[in-house]
Amino acid sequence: MSWSHKDLISIADLSGEEITTILDMSTSFKEISRRDIKKVPTLRGKTVVLLFYEASTRTRLSFELAAKRLSADTTALSASGSSFQKGETIMDAALNVMAMAPDCIVIRYPYAGLPRKLALELPCSIINAGDGTHEHPTQALLDMYSMREHFGRLEGLHVAIVGDIAHSRVARSNVYGLKKMGARVTVVGPRTLLPPGVETWGVEVSCEFDPVVNDADVIMMLRVQRERIEEQCFPNEREYAHFFGLNKRRVDMMKPDAIIMHPGPMNRGVEITHDAADGNRSIILNQVENGVAVRMTLLYLSLGGNINVD
Ligand code: CP
Repeated sequence: MSWSHKDLISIADLSGEEITTILDMSTSFKEISRRDIKKVPTLRGKTVVLLFYEASTRTRLSFELAAKRLSADTTALSASGSSFQKGETIMDAALNVMAMAPDCIVIRYPYAGLPRKLALELPCSIINAGDGTHEHPTQALLDMYSMREHFGRLEGLHVAIVGDIAHSRVARSNVYGLKKMGARVTVVGPRTLLPPGVETWGVEVSCEFDPVVNDADVIMMLRVQRERIEEQCFPNEREYAHFFGLNKRRVDMMKPDAIIMHPGPMNRGVEITHDAADGNRSIILNQVENGVAVRMTLLYLSLGGNINVD
């Protein structure tokens, strides 16, 4: 199979077969990161530009490491320190970046839709590293990789996604991907943090955590995205933690082999306690390790297109 996508904007653009291909290939790339010499010449001569107009630790660093481990040249630009601060529009900035002939632009932006617009207007590959509340497709792929690595399958798993669903691009991308792969998804959160129309997503919806916690194979906790919340959605963080936080009491209610995930960054003491985040059910740091491997696969497919990896 050859890769037919110039860009990766949304999980909705991928078939189940393509998702399976990405997950399968990522195991080969994961092995490279565990070598003493973590570098292969696969993308030598290619240039990847990281445009991060919103804060990031994991996504930005793992894309940069992924590109460097494949021998691509990388350069990064953030809003702070760029001519964005002098009033340059993002489209002007993107056209100027394009004039420097990158092969791929990885873009994070605080509002939905920009990666799709860039993909339509620019000839290089565009990878969406998170656009507003819309999508974070590479996060969903690394999450699915991590679940499949742990359980050996995605089909039939019950995944509970808990917290600020309304503002979460991670939730949206995971719902699209997990449903395609045959998983059962329940979204859990206070009514004020569930988006309008969530009932049409093809998932189960619960405003109570306890009835779901003992039935899920995966508990994926989400951060309350204070930066995107304009009105008060719950009385205070203490009450939020009581009703929707993953704590020792709830960890003890989980199925014996159930796991805990979180895309990061965590608000410890709000949606997750130390017990839950650092305990033996947590695969949160495995997610981070797998993020490099999955992003190596995506850069390879976007810039190479041949699925035979040695
Ligand atoms: N999961 C995630 O997107 O983390 P960063 O915001 O640190 O990239």
